[in-house]
Amino acid sequence: MRYLPLFADLEGRECLVNGGGENAARKLRLLLRAGARPTVVASAVNAEIRALARDGKVRVAQGADGAPDLSWRGLAAFALIVVADADSGTAKAYAAAARQANVPINVVDRPDLSTVVFPGIVDRDPILVAIGSAGAAPALVRRLREQIEALLPSRLGQLAQFAQRFRSAVAGTQPDSRRRRRFWESFFDGPVARLVLDGREHQATNAMLRLVNGETAPSSAGSVALVGVGPGDPDLLTLRALRAMQDADVVVYDRLIGDQILDYVRRDAERLYVGKARGNHAMSQEEINALLVARARAGHRVARLKGGDPFVFGRGGEEMAYLQAAGIAVEIIPGITAATGCAAAAGLPLTHRDYASGVTFVTGHMRDGAAEPDWAGLAATRHTLVIYMGVATADIIGERLVTHGMRPATPVAVIENGTRPEQIVARGTLATLGATVAERDIVGPALIVIGDAAALAKESVPGADAHTQAYA
Ligand SMILES: C[S@@+](CC[C@H](N)C(=O)[O-])C[C@H]1O[C@@H](n2cnc3c(N)ncnc32)[C@H](O)[C@@H]1O
Repeated sequence: MRYLPLFADLEGRECLVNGGGENAARKLRLLLRAGARPTVVASAVNAEIRALARDGKVRVAQGADGAPDLSWRGLAAFALIVVADADSGTAKAYAAAARQANVPINVVDRPDLSTVVFPGIVDRDPILVAIGSAGAAPALVRRLREQIEALLPSRLGQLAQFAQRFRSAVAGTQPDSRRRRRFWESFFDGPVARLVLDGREHQATNAMLRLVNGETAPSSAGSVALVGVGPGDPDLLTLRALRAMQDADVVVYDRLIGDQILDYVRRDAERLYVGKARGNHAMSQEEINALLVARARAGHRVARLKGGDPFVFGRGGEEMAYLQAAGIAVEIIPGITAATGCAAAAGLPLTHRDYASGVTFVTGHMRDGAAEPDWAGLAATRHTLVIYMGVATADIIGERLVTHGMRPATPVAVIENGTRPEQIVARGTLATLGATVAERDIVGPALIVIGDAAALAKESVPGADAHTQAYA
């Protein structure tokens, strides 16, 4: 290990920053967040630093006038020295003097002259994550920082502060240190912590009081998150979906959830497949409901993964109602529904001032006695129609809409496996809808998009990059 990571307490301490440009301003922002009292030495400073000086947050010493003593004896007065914008000679002189004075120094982009380096920071004050590469790969540090940013809940700092408020109360009711540690471990995994992370502090405080007084166990209650995971491309997962997948003890998923998405599930989570495998029957909705309740009652955090959005043709409403009736805490995590994901991947605007004043999502599922949509109403709108689950009935859909007055030449796009590497976008017209599906051998999952805007879809074949193809 080339550097030892330490967190420096700079509250109220004098720091020196050499330079008045963007580099210096960036470091000043950090120093001020840490409560330091910076002095800037520069021949000229940018507008941001001038404003900080005007507000009395930094002292600017320009030229010889008012400049601090930059000999090593003078530098000893500072807790930290940052050389942000200096020529090599000046930087070396600072480095030598700082070493002699035994004051930590950071020279921007010169690890060879520095005794300390600034790490990449993920800031959920008071929780801080610092990442360093000892100068080996700053771009990799930036990438890691983005990934950690995405993973950590935005209210993590509030959670730490919440726990701090109860530290002495918990110490009073749990005097044994091992039991106290177990209490806190279960607390951070439990429903009260989740309330804080969801921004429901008032409820969390009441629940915490019950917990501290021993009226409930820290993590006895399980929960279910109905998680929309989008149409297939894992880049379209939301941060919240990702967190739920990383938090879950049990993950329940079905046929539309591909391996690329499952790769983001916590490795040691139990995975339960409830979809239809070739030759096997799918688990019935009643069996899935019962499974979710049983796992939650056993105290698990369950993530029920749903393709697209749970509330768009996803039976999310039914599952939510069933779970709530069983007294299970339910969280709904919205996802990018197939219509918006596939339309973007095909370069097809669902609404457009020239072609469509609205968009309507309809199910094409008409088997097993399901009621047919209001074809006359659909044919009469100037909406883009997006038909989910319509592949098997494509010919009927085309015929019904034409019978009810829609132009046979109305443009149609059929998008199979949208946003995935196997994506196919096939264009045709309403009159040829059934033939288009048959000729391109489309078996789903696929969307049928009908309306003048569908003419803007870019045809594509498997293996093409969905995003670049849409904009080529
Ligand atoms: C049971 S519905 C679920 C819809 C999902 N809840 C959503 O919001 O996208 C399944 C249908 O969604 C559509 N679908 C889902 N993913 C798709 C994809 N990647 N490409 C095309 N259509 C998709 C298909 O019409 C499929 O038959």
